Amino acid sequence: MPKTILITGASSGFGLLTARLALSRGWAVAAASRHAEAALLDGPGNERLLSLRMDVCDPASVREGLRAVEQRFGVPDAVVNNAGIGLLGAAEEVAPEALRRQFETNFFGAVELTRAVLPAMRARGAGQFVFVSSDLGRTGAPGLSAYCATKHALEGWAESLFHEAAPFGIGVTIVEPGAFRTGFHERSMEVAAGVGDPDSPYAPLYRSLATGFFGGPERPTGEIVAEAILLAAEGREPRLRAPVGEDAEEWSRGRFVAEEEEFIRDLAGRFGWHAWRST
Ligand SMILES: NC(=O)c1ccc[n+]([C@@H]2O[C@H](COP(=O)([O-])OP(=O)(O)OC[C@H]3O[C@@H](n4cnc5c(N)ncnc54)[C@H](OP(=O)(O)O)[C@@H]3O)[C@@H](O)[C@H]2O)c1
Repeated sequence: MPKTILITGASSGFGLLTARLALSRGWAVAAASRHAEAALLDGPGNERLLSLRMDVCDPASVREGLRAVEQRFGVPDAVVNNAGIGLLGAAEEVAPEALRRQFETNFFGAVELTRAVLPAMRARGAGQFVFVSSDLGRTGAPGLSAYCATKHALEGWAESLFHEAAPFGIGVTIVEPGAFRTGFHERSMEVAAGVGDPDSPYAPLYRSLATGFFGGPERPTGEIVAEAILLAAEGREPRLRAPVGEDAEEWSRGRFVAEEEEFIRDLAGRFGWHAWRST
């Protein structure tokens, strides 16, 4: 009997790569997203594939999707909370409703699905949760306050769950990818109204982000992230937090090991936006 993995945001990017990898390694895969396309995963192992339409922002859709997984494969052995969206804009220019949308997907969506699966996993005494956060899940960054806030919230919640669930045989891993070429910025990134407005006081920041952070050197594709997610789903990642990619490892070391002032100066330099006035 193959083990079952439920992956959200499996229509593209890390989620799709993880679904393909899991199928190739013999898992039964429930691939969930708002635009479920079984065709994306066509190939060997399809008899072990359930392609699901699930909007993590809609509790009824989450419950219905989970029911379909349980009917087909039983209670999932691993759940990967990967669905996520981004939001570019200075704190002052991000509309409150856009900030709430971020939280609905990146935080409450993961919470909803996790809480729905937990009782059955607890009763069985086994299970793994993987939360796909970001290297921005432990640090703030100019122009990305909304996204950072959701990932910080997700990490705090997941870390608490790690403590609560361990005695019941349930593992929790937070995967923190650095920057990868998945199409996230083109497909899943909302922008605040001020972005693109030459009169915005943050126009230099947005220009710097466009050419630096987002437009920088070619990024790697996400295969190593899929490997890290699957390792965690198998319960073989020994760390609670698993940074993936050179930048993520460097930031994670910097955040916790370097002096805070040094870290903030370095980060501000990378974003081309200075945290302190130089007067
Ligand atoms: N790419 C990077 O550099 C990077 C770095 C750090 C962290 N991350 C994180 O990695 C995760 C995956 O991103 P990605 O890079 O693979 O980008 P992506 O290809 O754009 O994936 C985002 C996925 O989330 C799904 N999604 C969005 N809203 C949803 C909802 N309400 N319900 C269900 N599914 C939803 C999308 O599918 P549908 O539109 O079909 O629903 C899509 O499959 C995100 O959590 C992101 O924050 C990415």
